[in-house]
Amino acid sequence: MANSFIRIVQNPILRSHLDRVASKTGIEFNDLELVSALSDEIIPTMIIFEIEMENSIEFISKWKEKWPKCFLAAAVTQPDRELWMAADAAGCDLVSNRGALPNLLRKKIVSFLDGIESLTPETVCLLTKSVVNEGDGLVARLPDNPEDPICVFRIEDEYYGIRDACPHAGFALADGEFDVTTGIVTCPEHGSRFNVHSGERIQGPADYSIKTYPVKVDGDDIYVYV
Ligand code: FES
Repeated sequence: MANSFIRIVQNPILRSHLDRVASKTGIEFNDLELVSALSDEIIPTMIIFEIEMENSIEFISKWKEKWPKCFLAAAVTQPDRELWMAADAAGCDLVSNRGALPNLLRKKIVSFLDGIESLTPETVCLLTKSVVNEGDGLVARLPDNPEDPICVFRIEDEYYGIRDACPHAGFALADGEFDVTTGIVTCPEHGSRFNVHSGERIQGPADYSIKTYPVKVDGDDIYVYV
């Protein structure tokens, strides 16, 4: 199947830099105006978009669910840490400021077309560090995962892995209070609340939900898939 590179970019400077990427790598962009304009008939290889576009965070999750192998690259114009983290948590593969994005994409596209690397990383299973806890609640942490710190909560026989960094200001949710009856963790710093089952934000000041990770338990060992 032919590769399909989708560009949903309105900024003229970024568009012209991406035109240069296209001519250097020999690809062609399929241009769309809005994130909502992408139809189900296309299976995209890569989608490049601007994070400040309306509903872009919501569409990242939808796209990843529909096309998990599609590479999602977001350009950020205004430095907004929370928006950046939200894009990352929603499953965006690359979030970069507008100036740096074309060059990063050029390298990525070249190594993909040359067959050197796939666009999206393969899922890996990582062993966490157990936290001594006989009951329900926090049972494991993975503080030094290169992508994100992760923590795992247990409720009876179910385990839930979440990103261990609050999208508001990055504090560790593992240090917050956890309600085993509702599955809600409260950020220790400013009180944002999240449901560990789904990552859903229940209460701010954080504006966005958190990423969740599948968990596997083998005897005393707890693994997360990232
Ligand atoms: S850092 Fe979590 S609510 Fe502010």
